[in-house]
Amino acid sequence: MDPKEVAGKKATEYVNSGMVVGLGTGSTAVHLIRALGERVAKGLQIQAVPTSEASARLAKQVGIELISLEENSVVDLTIDGADEVDPTLQLIKGLGGALLREKIVAAASTHRIIIVDPSKLVSELGTRAPLPVEVVPFGWPVVQRFLVEEKIFSDLRLRPQGGGPFVTDNGNYVLDCRFPKGIPDPAKTESWLNHLPGVVENGLFVNMADIVIVGHEDGACRVMERP
Ligand code: A5P
Repeated sequence: MDPKEVAGKKATEYVNSGMVVGLGTGSTAVHLIRALGERVAKGLQIQAVPTSEASARLAKQVGIELISLEENSVVDLTIDGADEVDPTLQLIKGLGGALLREKIVAAASTHRIIIVDPSKLVSELGTRAPLPVEVVPFGWPVVQRFLVEEKIFSDLRLRPQGGGPFVTDNGNYVLDCRFPKGIPDPAKTESWLNHLPGVVENGLFVNMADIVIVGHEDGACRVMERP
């Protein structure tokens, strides 16, 4: 079985009728949304806040009712994927480019579940995935210069797409930043990056995951809870 599907299906067990559910973005979240759609077809009554246009489209296709944060700013449970998970359940997210909406919806949520396959587990954040930093198009060269001058990244590049820069659902660009030996202090790094003028958000999700579900090929799941 696809471990992403295993984790996505397992997470639906935490969803009950009456909930407002945050829907993540990415290939693992796709399995979750499809599985939730199957439960909705059988009578589950939920409203959902999507974290991207892609997840909104899929949710509509499978019959999940959508609601905006304007209509309801409290989300009961958000379920989303991640690019890296460390042993204390700190995360890097945003390789799918949806980090800003994902972090807003996660912050609005009472409970947060992360669904991953085993390849996402790392001993230290920043050792496998780049850290995505969402920047406004007007200021991205300045942010890039500031970051290069810090001399802490082994690689730093504007994310490309189709001959130009990748553009997020919010109309922004993404700088993918690689650290030579991981990120020793994720909380400090998250806060420092977000204070640079022109940075909208970055992909460090510190103390946000309550539960991480790791799906395995044999259909089993490991459920990790933040201490
Ligand atoms: C989207 O912007 C990301 O944060 C995704 O949640 C993350 O990249 C995980 O994606 P996959 O489930 O496709 O690996």
